[in-house]
Amino acid sequence: MSTVRTAVLPVAGWGTRFLPATKAIPKEMLPIVDRPCVAYVVAEAVAAGIHNIVLVTARGKTAIEDYFDRSPALELALETAGKRDLLGEVVAIARHAKIISVRQQEQRGLGHAVLQAAEVIGDHDFAVMLPDDIVDGRTWDAVGNAKVETGSSPALGQMLDVYAETGGVVVALKEVPNADTNRYGICAGIWVAADRMKVERMVEKPKPELAPSNFSIVGRYILPGSIFALLREQAPGAIGEVQITDALAVYAARGEAHGVIFKGRHFDTGNPVGLLDASLHFALHHPVYGEATRAMLTKHGQPGG
Ligand code: UTP
Repeated sequence: MSTVRTAVLPVAGWGTRFLPATKAIPKEMLPIVDRPCVAYVVAEAVAAGIHNIVLVTARGKTAIEDYFDRSPALELALETAGKRDLLGEVVAIARHAKIISVRQQEQRGLGHAVLQAAEVIGDHDFAVMLPDDIVDGRTWDAVGNAKVETGSSPALGQMLDVYAETGGVVVALKEVPNADTNRYGICAGIWVAADRMKVERMVEKPKPELAPSNFSIVGRYILPGSIFALLREQAPGAIGEVQITDALAVYAARGEAHGVIFKGRHFDTGNPVGLLDASLHFALHHPVYGEATRAMLTKHGQPGG
């Protein structure tokens, strides 16, 4: 078993559910309150001790690289204006994570996107984090103060704890309504702890009546470097999407895959309503904007609001 030091973030998709906005803006750069979606996911990786980030990008996505880069002109302007807090924050973004970019030249699915990181990762174990899935690992006490429970760093940290014991593949799991199984990759297997499944089967988007369980994979994976060979076999130059589930199923069949029900609030920000849900959540719990957001919601709840 090797140590996981790198997270791959596929950000090359079209983001069609956010058209027309995504005609000019990467969906990963759409903001939740005051920072882009992708920043929440990189923060989760950093909180889990992973500082090397491989972005799988595409044409039109350079704003993501710019976001994580230094910006000397902006830093000088903030310094001159005496805006030291903002300056500190802007500088910190570039310090926390080391970004490497690779390109996916054709949008041929998640498996194909992950495959583009093969040369950077080599045969090391690595994490994959989808920037559409945002997890808030905080909990709140009765008067609304946020606290992070010991050991409950957002999903990836909890998965790494399991990986340290099991090695192999580790996926994040979430229970979904039975009627929705046809929207997700579904796992079934043996529960080896209240929050941990030894995965025996993975099925992509099964109809509710055929689903072997209602535990879906959320966009966090710990994968062995050996998965690249499986993904290559699936992608012999044919047109069509290369998905990751078939390769994962190989590890599951060998008894080398585990699923973790992570603690934390999960948001699917890959569609406008999910992004709004996450925006309200983070705004309501924001130290500066929380009160104004509550007042705004009260106003909208009133007739004619
Ligand atoms: P999605 O299917 O949710 O993203 O893929 P999408 O294709 O951009 O969105 P829609 O469905 O058109 O609205 C999950 C993640 O995988 C990346 C996406 O950027 C997203 O972060 N992805 C997807 C790639 O990097 N390459 C691909 O070929 C497909």
